[in-house]
Amino acid sequence: MLNFDLYMPARIVFGRGTQSRIGELLKPHAKKVLLHYGGGSIKRTGLYDTVVKSLNDAGIPFVELGGVVPNPRLSLVHEGIELCRRENVDLILAVGGGSAIDSSKAIAMGVYYDGDVWDIYDTGKPIEKALPVAVVLTIPAAGSESSGDTVISNEETGRKYGYGSPKLRPLISVMNPELFFTLPKNQIANGVADMMSHIFERYFTNTTHVDLTDALCEATLRTILSNAPRLMEDPQDYDAWAEIGFAGTVAHNGLLGMGREQDWACHAMEHELSAAYDVAHGAGLAVLTPAWMKYVHKDNLDMFVQFAVNVMGVSKGFRDKEDVIREGIDRLQNFYRVMSLPQTLTELGIDESRHEEMAKKCTEIYFGEEYKVGGLKKLGWQDVLNIYTIAK
Ligand code: NZQ
Ligand code: ZN
Repeated sequence: MLNFDLYMPARIVFGRGTQSRIGELLKPHAKKVLLHYGGGSIKRTGLYDTVVKSLNDAGIPFVELGGVVPNPRLSLVHEGIELCRRENVDLILAVGGGSAIDSSKAIAMGVYYDGDVWDIYDTGKPIEKALPVAVVLTIPAAGSESSGDTVISNEETGRKYGYGSPKLRPLISVMNPELFFTLPKNQIANGVADMMSHIFERYFTNTTHVDLTDALCEATLRTILSNAPRLMEDPQDYDAWAEIGFAGTVAHNGLLGMGREQDWACHAMEHELSAAYDVAHGAGLAVLTPAWMKYVHKDNLDMFVQFAVNVMGVSKGFRDKEDVIREGIDRLQNFYRVMSLPQTLTELGIDESRHEEMAKKCTEIYFGEEYKVGGLKKLGWQDVLNIYTIAK
């Protein structure tokens, strides 16, 4: 096990009716709030009215900024920063999913930054201050409700970059599984693929003697595998949503990766797809993950056998490790199929014309050297191109 420093202080208020408590929960922390949300689902579902009533009942004034799109854009972040400065906002309330939350985090740090907030994403330099961010979660997927991460797309440069700081962890996140009942099936599936990937990125490692986090990763993955298909049958299954919602948070709050070298190659490769083609992050991951497994498993056969047996339930009776692993990957792909997730880049509308460009962007030269992505196997641009080709 490697040394680690674990700090994951997001308060998660979970369960039925919790969205009505948001005003009361924010009262001790906020004098004026920016209510930040997406393209309108919260107005259709009535959540907007509930949140506004709760803020009004608590006597918290607010201004609002809607219009966050999936793969949230820098231009709206700039607008939000101006609005917060002008209106003396001291807390941002994101009502939505990863996109509204990530946009809120970008605004939260941008308010205190003199230059263009994009510099922070570009350079990764540490921030000293950010406004507090609170969340009413409407889709379990990105895990942003408990992470210190934010991912923003710069529409001018066509780049999508992530940034992380402990200062960006939400102060309070409210999660009522009933709010997920209105999600369309493709968004359910995208969210499930994303949270699974957050576990895979931590689970697949060359670090040994990490039995506890191995087991936590495996239990969380098995919980997702058994509950997610129930939602494709009945999107109003509260118990299944409760498991999936909690799993999505546990997947990305940091705990599962402690003491282990992490990977993150699939996320790096996917961010290039989202940046170039604006595909849904989870759908991109569902296509790339099996291709990545096929390409890298030879570098750590035991880790992939462990995955096949402990997560995908492959019988230990198989003699050949490669057989066991192949069966494990097949079962994962079959699960994605059950979730109606895409299987190939072609299904995502991505042909080969920009594969090489994306592979090179993913591994751009830093300080004169090619940047390699991944942990279990370090991948250069040719490797990334090979994986895109397997996934085509
Ligand atoms: O915009 P609205 O109208 O609200 O519709 C949204 C959006 O179209 C809809 N939706 C959300 N809740 C709903 C609903 N529709 C009906 N009923 C509801 N209850 O779902 C669509 C997707 O929403 P979005 O917020 O984009 O989804 P998600 O949570 O998957 O976030 C994706 C973004 O998060 C980033 C991704 O790259 C992507 O940009 N990530 C953020 C991470 C982080 N901050 O820690 C980590 C992740 O790896 C990921 O990269
Ligand atoms: Zn993700």
